[in-house]
Amino acid sequence: MTTALAVEAVGITKRFGPFTALGDVSLKVAPATVHALLGENGAGKSTLVKCLLGYYKADEGSFLIDGKEEVIARPADADRLGLGMVYQHFTLVPSMTVAENLVMSRADVPAVVDWGKERADLEKFMADMPFKVSLGAEVGTLAAGERQKTEILKQLYLQRRFLVLDEPTSVLTPQEADEMLSLVADLAHSGSITVAIITHKLKEVKKFADEVTVLRRGRYAGKGRTADLEPADMTAMMIGEPQAPASVERRGAAEAEERLLVTSLRTEGDAGRAGLDITKLAVHPREIVGIAGVSGNGQKELAEVLGGQRVPASGEIIVGGEGYTATRDEAQALSVRVLPEEPLRNGCVPRMSVSDNLNLRSFDRDAKGARKFWLNGSAMTDRARRMIAAYGVRAPSREVPIGVLSGGNVQRCVLARELDGEVKLLIVANPCFGLDVKAVAEVRARIVAARNAGAAVLLISEDLDEILELSDRIVVMHDGKIVYETPGAGADAQSIGAHMLGSH
Ligand SMILES: Nc1ncnc2c1ncn2[C@@H]1O[C@H](COP(=O)(O)OP(=O)(O)OP(=O)(O)O)[C@@H](O)[C@H]1O
Ligand SMILES: [Mg+2]
Repeated sequence: MTTALAVEAVGITKRFGPFTALGDVSLKVAPATVHALLGENGAGKSTLVKCLLGYYKADEGSFLIDGKEEVIARPADADRLGLGMVYQHFTLVPSMTVAENLVMSRADVPAVVDWGKERADLEKFMADMPFKVSLGAEVGTLAAGERQKTEILKQLYLQRRFLVLDEPTSVLTPQEADEMLSLVADLAHSGSITVAIITHKLKEVKKFADEVTVLRRGRYAGKGRTADLEPADMTAMMIGEPQAPASVERRGAAEAEERLLVTSLRTEGDAGRAGLDITKLAVHPREIVGIAGVSGNGQKELAEVLGGQRVPASGEIIVGGEGYTATRDEAQALSVRVLPEEPLRNGCVPRMSVSDNLNLRSFDRDAKGARKFWLNGSAMTDRARRMIAAYGVRAPSREVPIGVLSGGNVQRCVLARELDGEVKLLIVANPCFGLDVKAVAEVRARIVAARNAGAAVLLISEDLDEILELSDRIVVMHDGKIVYETPGAGADAQSIGAHMLGSH
C-alpha cells in the first residue's frame, strides 16, 4: 500500500525582522522518493522545513500535501498530516527513558499506560530496526550518536508518511549512517514514506537520494536528479563557484614534552555503561591525537572530564607539568581550550548575542590575560567583528541571540572564540558536526594550523575519515578503555574499525 505523501512548497518567503531567510523558494518532493535539500550553512534549509512542519509561519507562499493546499500553522497540524522531522538539535526528554520517550510522543497515548504491553510492542518494533538503542536507558545519559538514533526511531515509531531528516548522520559511524539511510531509502522506495534529507555529506546524497534541490543564501539555486549530478556539481550549485577547499599540511614533528598527561583515570559508569578506565593517555605539542570510537564508548565522558563537567572517581590529569582540574582559571593560565560537541548547548549562552558569546571567554581579561574590572564595549565589538569576518560567520547581525544562527554558524562562532590567541592544549569533540563542505575544510585547516603553531590537540571524533585525515596518532576507545593505538600515517581503517567494534 502506498502511504507516502507528495509534498510541495510554493513561493515560500520567511523574514526575521529585516532579514530575509527565504525568498520565494519552491520545492517539489515526489512521493516515495528520497529528496535531498542542499546548501551552505545559513542557506535556509532548516528554516524551510520548519515552516513546513509548523514551527515557523511563512510570510508568503503555500504548502501542498498530496496536491491539496494545507494550512500548517502549528506543529500539531503537521502531526495530523503525517509530517515528521528529526531535528538537528535534540528534542527528547533527557530525564525519561528511551521507551518512555517513544510512548509519550504518541498523540494517542492513553491516560493510563499499560507499560507491560507497550514494552512488548516496543521490543517487537525495535527488533525490525537496523540499529538498537537500549529501551531502558535514560536519554540524558546517551551520547549524541545514540540520541540521534533514538530521534529517528521515534519518527519511525510514529509511522510518519513524510519524514524530514535534518543532518541525521552527523554523529553516526559511517556504517550506522549507511544502514540508517538504506533503511529509510527502502521505506521510501517501497511506498511507505517520502523522505526529505538535509545533509552536507554529498556522498550520501549521491548514494541514497533520488533528487536534490539546492538553496543559496535563502534563494532557490537549482535542482536535479542525483543520477545526473556528481558531488562537485552539487557543490558548485551550492556556492555558485567551483570549490577550492583550504587544506593545511601538518608541519613539524611532535615534541617530547607531555603537554597533556592523563593517568589511571576512572569514572563511575552511568546507566549500565562502563565508566572510563584509562591507564595512560599523553598528547605532545605539535601532535594531533585522534580518539576514534563508536558513540557511547566513553568519548563523551572523557571530553566532560577534560572540560570540567565531570569529576573523575580517581586518576590524575597533568597539563604542562601541573595538576589540572579543569577550572576556568586553570584553563586560562595554561591556555587550554575546549571545543565541546553540541556547542549551542555546551559552549554558548543561547539567549545572549553573537557578540557577547564571541567575547565570553575573554571579556574580563586584558591583552595579557589578567583579570580586568570593567568591560570595554568597543573592544568587544571589534573583537566580535574581527572573528565574524575571519571565520565567515553568517548572521543577520552581531546583536541577535546566538541561538537563532544556523547550526554551522554557531559552530564557527565557538571555534573562533576558542582558537583566538595562544593555544597550548586544544580539546575538540566532533568539531565538524553539521558543517558544510567548505566549512569542514576550513575548520580542519584551523585545527591543523593550531597544531603547527605548537598546540597539543586531542581530537575526539566519531567521524573516522576525520580522524584519519587529521591525526598524527590514533587511539581507539572501546568500553571506556583505550584498546588500540597506531601512528596516523599508514593507519589501517579496517583494523581501527574492528577495534572500535570490540571485535578484533
Ligand atoms: N529565529 C530566527 N531569528 C533570526 N534569524 C534566524 C532565525 N532562524 C534562522 N535565522 C537565520 O536564517 C538563516 C538561515 O538559517 P537556517 O538555520 O535555515 O540555515 P541552514 O541552511 O539550516 O544552515 P546549517 O547548514 O548551518 O544548518 C541564518 O542566517 C539564520 O541566522
Ligand atoms: Mg540547519
